[in-house]
Amino acid sequence: MGTDTRCWRLFGAAILFFLGFCDSDTAPNFTFLHNATRAPAISYYDYIIVGGGTAGCPLAATLSQNASVLLLERGGSPYGNPNITNLSAFGAALADLSPTSPSQRFISEDGVINARARVLGGGSCLNAGFYTRASTDYVSEAGWDGRLVNQSYEWVERLVAFRPRIQSWQSAVHDGLLEAGVVPYNGFTYDHIYGTKIGGTIFDVEGHRHTAADLLEYANSTRLTVLLHASVHKILFITRGNLRPLAHGVAFRDASGIKHRAYLKQGSKNEIIISAGAIGSPQILMLSGVGPAGHLKANNISVVLDQPMVGQGMSDNPMNAIFVPSPSPVEVSLIQVVGITRFGSYIEAAGGENFSPRDYGMFSPKIGQLSTLPPKQRTPEALAKAVEFMNSLDEAPFRGGFILEKVMGPVSTGHLELQTLNPNDNPSVTFNYFQDPLDLERCVQGLETIERLVESKAFSKFRFNELSIPTLLNMTVGAPINLLPKHANSSRSLEQFCKDTVMTIWHYHGGCQVGKVVDHQYKVLGVDALRVIDGSTFNYSPGTNPQATVMMLGRYMGETILNERLANDESK
Ligand SMILES: Cc1cc2nc3c(=O)[nH]c(=O)nc-3n(C[C@H](O)[C@H](O)[C@H](O)COP(=O)(O)OP(=O)(O)OC[C@H]3O[C@@H](n4cnc5c(N)ncnc54)[C@H](O)[C@@H]3O)c2cc1C
Ligand SMILES: *[C@@H]1O[C@H](CO)[C@@H](O)[C@H](O)[C@H]1NC(C)=O
Ligand SMILES: *[C@@H]1O[C@H](CO)[C@@H](O)[C@H](O)[C@H]1NC(C)=O
Ligand SMILES: *[C@@H]1O[C@H](CO)[C@@H](O)[C@H](O)[C@H]1NC(C)=O
Ligand SMILES: *[C@@H]1O[C@H](CO)[C@@H](O)[C@H](O)[C@H]1NC(C)=O
Ligand SMILES: *[C@@H]1O[C@H](CO)[C@@H](O)[C@H](O)[C@H]1NC(C)=O
Ligand SMILES: *[C@@H]1O[C@H](CO)[C@@H](O)[C@H](O)[C@H]1NC(C)=O
Ligand SMILES: *[C@@H]1O[C@H](CO)[C@@H](O)[C@H](O)[C@H]1NC(C)=O
Ligand SMILES: *[C@@H]1O[C@H](CO)[C@@H](O)[C@H](O)[C@H]1NC(C)=O
Ligand SMILES: *[C@@H]1O[C@H](CO)[C@@H](O)[C@H](O)[C@H]1NC(C)=O
Ligand SMILES: *[C@@H]1O[C@H](CO)[C@@H](O)[C@H](O)[C@H]1NC(C)=O
Repeated sequence: MGTDTRCWRLFGAAILFFLGFCDSDTAPNFTFLHNATRAPAISYYDYIIVGGGTAGCPLAATLSQNASVLLLERGGSPYGNPNITNLSAFGAALADLSPTSPSQRFISEDGVINARARVLGGGSCLNAGFYTRASTDYVSEAGWDGRLVNQSYEWVERLVAFRPRIQSWQSAVHDGLLEAGVVPYNGFTYDHIYGTKIGGTIFDVEGHRHTAADLLEYANSTRLTVLLHASVHKILFITRGNLRPLAHGVAFRDASGIKHRAYLKQGSKNEIIISAGAIGSPQILMLSGVGPAGHLKANNISVVLDQPMVGQGMSDNPMNAIFVPSPSPVEVSLIQVVGITRFGSYIEAAGGENFSPRDYGMFSPKIGQLSTLPPKQRTPEALAKAVEFMNSLDEAPFRGGFILEKVMGPVSTGHLELQTLNPNDNPSVTFNYFQDPLDLERCVQGLETIERLVESKAFSKFRFNELSIPTLLNMTVGAPINLLPKHANSSRSLEQFCKDTVMTIWHYHGGCQVGKVVDHQYKVLGVDALRVIDGSTFNYSPGTNPQATVMMLGRYMGETILNERLANDESK
């Protein structure tokens, strides 16, 4: 048995104490975590947060410092589940399709197989761990206070961000990026700057994952209640004649299907905050009667507010990757190095046993990635066939790694619609990958950069010289599968390669965007006492990868809301 050492750091007033107890697989001392089955039928709080994910946890921890807080999470606890806590197990949760899995698979109308979190800590429990801030331009365009932004990132980083240990394959990737012209070299930094850098990670040096749930360490445990297996079905509104609808409570169900309600205490500053993620937040708004009136009526939902923009502006950054088989051994690594180009695509890499029959990996059909077939052909049967094919091969062809590019933004957008009235079911989502030609152009330029990287001197140790790039792109047999689907007319078109091999890097966002569904204070337009704070509010994905900024936003808005509360108390 390996020991899952998890070192809990406790906070003194201003000093960090490192406690020596590194217990395996047990939850930290969170006295406020409860199964929703234990919740009373009715309860009252200053703040009620829907969704204990990447934004919801830091938000709850912060608000609990000065107010009573209820955090409702539909999933369970991440603690003690090696599929979540262990770097080497990456993908195991994404491959688990059971109803109790921390990951819920969904397939967009585009046909790309995707996943959403269903666990305390949200996407930070499933993700590849890369940790990197948004650019200063992004921060100023968002209208955020740069000083509070930096303090909030630091607050997050004190508990969950680490410097990765770079080994030889990732080193070859960064040297290759420099040779390919993605310069300068910026060393290890969380900052988003042009060139090649080593970013942070939420995995510590022992490969243990630290998640947004760990930020609950900051909470005042006497003022916070976290209910697990608590599925919110509806935000409850008071309608008041000509006044704006007022959010005043939520209805949720526990694991046994029993209904509970939680209401805001009396007090004009108390609020409900939705942090259910880019799929869950627009979904719960619609289920509560805030959304496009026609669509709500068609689903027999009584309209609280006709808001046509709810569910609009859904985007998923397209990801395309090239597998490069290697004559030398390649260490297991998730994302560590990133190339930030000036043309708007980010180059990242994951090496090691990414396709191995034993493992899951970022590009395995076991988790729904199947770039050898165009999106709409990635049926369950096709996935099963690909898994079977891989199981029939020995380990040798799996030696190597993937170089990927992610298109920034993206510019293309789509929309989300309800399919059922059950909040546990997936809504239908359309992302319209590459609908805008700029996204396609960025993909092509990204792939051209990857070609230069692969052909660089620095990378030569990790590629077979006899495999030219066109051969590599066309490789299907014996080795695992690059990646070019067969089109009579398109074997050399990188545009077609982009469209046919598109996958997700799971950075989907939108649905409750700032300026369209919420204002710059994240307050839902047209109603009172309701905000949305999470990745659904983004117009574009921040940084090269979003999680740092999602966690930062939870802290940032928690502080902002408490400051407003305090200012209001003083004016009384
Ligand atoms: C496989 C994968 C790999 C990724 N890799 C990276 C990476 O390396 N680096 C990076 O920066 N980002 C990465 N990301 C993206 C990043 O993790 C997400 O952008 C981020 O976690 C989104 O945070 P969120 O708070 O918006 O939503 P979430 O974290 O998804 O939180 C939403 C929460 O709300 C809960 N919820 C939803 N509906 C309800 C309801 N009705 N009632 C109660 N609870 C509800 C959900 O269970 C969930 O816990 C990855 C994501 C995935 C899935
Ligand atoms: C855990 O909680 C107990 C009782 O509340 C407390 O005495 C103890 O110090 C806590 N330990 C840690 C590591 O927080
Ligand atoms: C929560 O309670 C339900 C119903 O009693 C039970 O099925 C479930 O296993 C419990 N979950 C946890 C994590 O204790
Ligand atoms: C972590 O994963 C590795 C590889 O799958 C495995 O060898 C190890 O036992 C795992 N550790 C735990 C604590 O599950
Ligand atoms: C871990 O993942 C595997 C593979 O998806 C699954 O079979 C198993 O049930 C999961 N274990 C837990 C504890 O979730
Ligand atoms: C925030 O930090 C970044 C470096 O991470 C720095 O460039 C920027 O100037 C800082 N902003 C403020 C307002 O201090
Ligand atoms: C935590 O909250 C309680 C009130 O519930 C308060 O008395 C206590 O001072 C708070 N602790 C801290 C460290 O702020
Ligand atoms: C809406 O209600 C009508 C009448 O009760 C019913 O016929 C219809 O199937 C319902 N539609 C949906 C989407 O539930
Ligand atoms: C691609 O591979 C097929 C066989 O799988 C072969 O017929 C074709 O010539 C190859 N094309 C290129 C450009 O290498
Ligand atoms: C290839 O042919 C198909 C069908 O004729 C067409 O839709 C597609 O646009 C073509 N692709 C390229 C790159 O020319
Ligand atoms: C939080 O409460 C403390 C006293 O418990 C007070 O000193 C502090 O100013 C409050 N902060 C905010 C932002 O409300």
